[in-house]
Amino acid sequence: MGDNNYATIIIMVTISVVQMPRMEGTCLLLLLLLSGGLSTLPPNLKEHHFVNQLMNWTEAQSYCREHFTDLVTVYNSDINQLLRSMAPNLEDWVWLGLYNDRYSWKWSMEGKHFYVGSTHEFLIWANGQPDCVNANEYCVALQGQTQMDDRPCGDSYPFLCYNASSTSYILVMESRSWSEAQSYCRTYHTDLTSIRRKEEKSNITLTLNGSGVQYVWIGLYRDPWAPWSDNTTSTFTNWAPSEPNNKNSFEYCVSMYSMPGKWYDARCNYKLNFFCFTGEVQNTNTVRSCHHVKH
Ligand SMILES: *[C@@H]1O[C@H](CO)[C@@H](O)[C@H](O)[C@H]1NC(C)=O
Ligand SMILES: *[C@@H]1O[C@H](CO)[C@@H](O)[C@H](O)[C@H]1NC(C)=O
Ligand SMILES: *[C@@H]1O[C@H](CO)[C@@H](O)[C@H](O)[C@H]1NC(C)=O
Ligand SMILES: *[C@@H]1O[C@H](CO)[C@@H](O)[C@H](O)[C@H]1NC(C)=O
Ligand SMILES: *[C@@H]1O[C@H](CO)[C@@H](O)[C@H](O)[C@H]1NC(C)=O
Repeated sequence: MGDNNYATIIIMVTISVVQMPRMEGTCLLLLLLLSGGLSTLPPNLKEHHFVNQLMNWTEAQSYCREHFTDLVTVYNSDINQLLRSMAPNLEDWVWLGLYNDRYSWKWSMEGKHFYVGSTHEFLIWANGQPDCVNANEYCVALQGQTQMDDRPCGDSYPFLCYNASSTSYILVMESRSWSEAQSYCRTYHTDLTSIRRKEEKSNITLTLNGSGVQYVWIGLYRDPWAPWSDNTTSTFTNWAPSEPNNKNSFEYCVSMYSMPGKWYDARCNYKLNFFCFTGEVQNTNTVRSCHHVKH
């Protein structure tokens, strides 16, 4: 075919029940074969496995990593449909490889990761935080001027910029959403402030002293529901209505309810069946391009 032609790759699906000798349960094995014989094709074999054993999310993750590649990543509705059809019962709750990592914080400035632990002991979370209320809190504000609290990024608060050229901290007393605050700081100063050192924390405390602010944005944030267990990112979701909701702030892992194939956040300590996959870890772009490969 010429350079400008696009070919639709045939997806051949084989579902078979395979008795795995080393596993207690029956394993439904699904092979997703992408054929087309093109050199530009991604690795062309991916197996999805339904594991008929009850485990909590972390146990399931370990099991998948030991026996297969990892917990499953769902890239699109086709894969979601395939998984759904593999669950033997209509009313199964099955773990997917998606979780809401409450400790995956990053600083806006320099893109450096935030480390929980001894190097940041001067940074204290307020009591019970981070709690990701309603599965909707992915930005961090200082509360009561000293302690950290995860808040909805769309909330409007005053914010703290850092100006690298004047090595100063600037409290901006206009209420803005976190990303508006970030834009402001990046335009007029350097960025929303980080708090990486004890000295930085005490300067910030001084800057805030007497301001009376209750919440003030700093440069700490995280990506919701990313990455998946296998470290890939996929923007496809299939949440049930009103989900995810992080009910009672205990729900940080994702399960699929087999009948409609919809997703729910759930307590990670529930014991559920789960889906694993075998195959190379692929990035989202590669997977998306499967249906229309240019050659
Ligand atoms: C902050 O830094 C910018 C350059 O990034 C500079 O033009 C500006 O004067 C500084 N503002 C303050 C308040 O220090
Ligand atoms: C903050 O305060 C310390 C003294 O506690 C000082 O040495 C430092 O230069 C100040 N500025 C910054 C940007 O941390
Ligand atoms: C805050 O400022 C007041 C004076 O305005 C001072 O008495 C107090 O010690 C300051 N607090 C801190 C934590 O620096
Ligand atoms: C995931 O990626 C991060 C860096 O982005 C790396 O530190 C980590 O080891 C990776 N985890 C796995 C399971 O590959
Ligand atoms: C899963 O169970 C193991 C013990 O078998 C426990 O150590 C772990 O914390 C549990 N994980 C969750 C998320 O509850």
